[in-house]
Amino acid sequence: MDSMILSSPSTRKPGEPDPAHLLAWYDRHRRRLPWRAEAGQRADPYHVFLSEIMLQQTTVKAVGPYFIDFLQRWPKVSDLAAAPLEAVLSAWAGLGYYARARNLHACAKAVVERHEGAFPADEAALLGLHGIGPYTAAAIAAIAFDLKASPVDGNIERVVSRLYAIDTPLPKGKTEIRQRAAALTPDQRPGDFAQAMMDLGATICTPKSPACVVCPFSPDCRARRAGDPARYPVKAPKAAKPTRTGIAFLAVRADGAVLLRQRPPKGLLGGMTEVPSTPWEAARPSAPALPLAARWQALPGMVTHVFTHFSLELEVWRAEVPLSTPAPAPGQWVQPGAFAEQALPSVMLKVLRHGGCL
Ligand code: ADE
Repeated sequence: MDSMILSSPSTRKPGEPDPAHLLAWYDRHRRRLPWRAEAGQRADPYHVFLSEIMLQQTTVKAVGPYFIDFLQRWPKVSDLAAAPLEAVLSAWAGLGYYARARNLHACAKAVVERHEGAFPADEAALLGLHGIGPYTAAAIAAIAFDLKASPVDGNIERVVSRLYAIDTPLPKGKTEIRQRAAALTPDQRPGDFAQAMMDLGATICTPKSPACVVCPFSPDCRARRAGDPARYPVKAPKAAKPTRTGIAFLAVRADGAVLLRQRPPKGLLGGMTEVPSTPWEAARPSAPALPLAARWQALPGMVTHVFTHFSLELEVWRAEVPLSTPAPAPGQWVQPGAFAEQALPSVMLKVLRHGGCL
């Protein structure tokens, strides 16, 4: 991964994007990121793995503190593998898409059990690990091992769709985008090339107003030549998200403790902590099953949260209960001071805030 500027591969046709231009730009403008190695160094595969899983569906800014916290708690992949799943879920709380945390943990265990704690330097072997899909396998292979692999995330998808003015709408257009990205990847410095594409997409080839005047690919970008780069990537119209609804029950004991319970291990927010609620369905139940007998009061307003496949609207009912109230199974009373140790997803933090418990 030396930072020498490459001469163009002989197969490149005039007017086609030149990876050497991008690498030269990267040598001057690369972002400093907590998981990124210094110029000319290779990143630790565990750091790449952890950051790539965290960065799926989450911004670089939001991931930074979580990445640092995870490395402090679990400096090596073997430490993460040995941690209880509940501790991992709890440290993940707030990042969303919790299946990623469970997969992260399962994958760390597989690396320890099947590869003696060292990530394999092989894209196909990485792909064989639990929770590692084609994108993550390619990202680890390229960034940690400098193997010729082409991760295509949303940023890279946008850059490539513009470079080649790909008119097939997403998701169908992904096939051509992947082929183009692979063909563009150079033999030398493929890891830097992948990160350079990510940086270009994040800082210059942005969704709404790309800064084409400072883009190293500008003269060879077909979308730019056609005059409307922001038209790409072309997307198929989105289906409307359905709305689900329910009632969350905030039972507050006289000492301030709140009734919480675990969600089932599989499915949406699997294994996370929640405030008891009715099932989340198309209509709110008129006679909801209550977690305990008390004087319940519907609070004004509503908690809203958007998940990948639906939007949720939760009414919050609150009840004050005596100190002697037993927690109905499978719930437990938790003091607000101990919320941080619970794997409380964002939607539940909103419920607790709405009910004045946070
Ligand atoms: N987005 C996804 N992976 C990334 C990485 N390794 N560096 C910067 N942005 C990213």
